[in-house]
Amino acid sequence: MPSKLLVATGNEGKLREFKKVLAGVCDVLSPRELSLLLRNVKEGTNYAENAVLKAKVYSDQFDGLICGEDSGLEVDALDGRPGPLSARYGGEDTPHTEKCRLILNELKDVALYNRTARFRATIALVDGDNVETFEGTLEGWIGFEYKGEEGFGYDPIFIPQGFSRTNAELGMVIKNRISHRAKAIGKLAEYLRNR
Ligand code: IMP
Repeated sequence: MPSKLLVATGNEGKLREFKKVLAGVCDVLSPRELSLLLRNVKEGTNYAENAVLKAKVYSDQFDGLICGEDSGLEVDALDGRPGPLSARYGGEDTPHTEKCRLILNELKDVALYNRTARFRATIALVDGDNVETFEGTLEGWIGFEYKGEEGFGYDPIFIPQGFSRTNAELGMVIKNRISHRAKAIGKLAEYLRNR
């Protein structure tokens, strides 16, 4: 089992999820904790490419295992949009409240049974030249209103399968148990335990 893993993210919420699921497996470190230089990453065209790019940006600053994560929301009635462009949908600087409203508006004439969607996360574990990827999805649908205070991004409009409230209403304890990222991190944990 490795002792240390650098998780290439500046998102504290994501970092907390990694630390929680990987507790007892390895020490999870962030670029901020190691005072590494934060750099912009050139975006790839899919989650796996982006996850690898995010990890590799630290290869020359950290000698050990590094993982990157990329995720997004796919709405079936929008042909899978926003997908890997989720963070930039409607403009890079557009706040997520607006991005959510944009999607609600695009779906304004779409009936409940056609509002299916999913969150998808891919983690890339980079070990020198070797790359392993781990995926997780959370199926659900897009609600009719913006609801809830917790979480981030598209959580206020996403209702996971088996629930009647949005991720943002359900809160972090439930979300972290069922999320796309939790599933992907769980697979990474299993892999690291057996290394
Ligand atoms: P990333 O941080 O560059 O991977 O961007 C992922 C984007 O996908 C975020 O900015 C959100 O728009 C969306 N996203 C990914 N995971 C979640 C989630 O758990 N809840 C809400 N939105 C998410």
